[in-house]
Amino acid sequence: MRIVHSIVELRQQLANAEHPAFVPTMGNLHAGHIALITQAKPLGDCTVASIFVNRLQFLPHEDFDSYPRTWDSDCEKLQAAGCDVLFAPREHDLYPEPQTFKVHTDPALADLLEGHFRPGFFTGVSTVVMKLFMAVFAGKAQGTAVFGKKDYQQLMVIRQMVRQFALPIEIASGETRRSADGLALSSRNGYLSEAERAEALHLSLTLRELGRDALAAANAIEAHLPALEAKAMETLSRRGWQPDYLTVRRRSDLQLPHAGDALVVLGAAKIGATRLIDNLEV
Ligand code: PAF
Repeated sequence: MRIVHSIVELRQQLANAEHPAFVPTMGNLHAGHIALITQAKPLGDCTVASIFVNRLQFLPHEDFDSYPRTWDSDCEKLQAAGCDVLFAPREHDLYPEPQTFKVHTDPALADLLEGHFRPGFFTGVSTVVMKLFMAVFAGKAQGTAVFGKKDYQQLMVIRQMVRQFALPIEIASGETRRSADGLALSSRNGYLSEAERAEALHLSLTLRELGRDALAAANAIEAHLPALEAKAMETLSRRGWQPDYLTVRRRSDLQLPHAGDALVVLGAAKIGATRLIDNLEV
């Protein structure tokens, strides 16, 4: 695996690639990331991963400084997974000057849910992803990028960005990987104490129950949804969580669902100081 830090080196490394397959990450790689690399490999002629903890997508009170950075084990895992090129820009490689040009996201999608609780998050994500896409795919007739469904709304925002800017990039999605008890794998799980880790599976259990309730009420979902969501919020609150949202949305645009819509259940909640997110298509 070649490791490069600057955009110039990356472009030299990819000069002969006709169709790169790209997995952007912030590092601290777990089995979920590695599954995305495995998925990407047959989708292109050169598999590229990036590791960059993107300051633009963290709010001032969030964990940018303490976000886990595990360079050596990340490199070993990528190498073992058969990644061809690792792009690991330093801050000044990607942001040599303050990044004042940003991707302006669509509020109808990006200001809901995660965007509501983390204002500016999707602007930060979209801006860095656009920049990473330009670094990896510029001059290529086609490319593929793989994003996990664990960050369901992020995947939708990136798909909308690619569609509206007519980027010649296929966006593939990878299923969420879970530990045996159902907890979605996440870099932030590493922040959990033993007791919090044992409790953490209740986020996916509560979402599952909300999904079952939503399906049972699917014919009149608009009428029943407020009570179903309140029940789920109450369940987690009583267990000591601080839920931001536990909701059922239609899959196509994350708006409130109507009878007959395909549904996704999404949630974000804090256990102790750690904020976890999860979702399930039902
Ligand atoms: O999902 C992530 O890890 C990040 O949001 C991404 C897509 C790498 C952009 O920083």
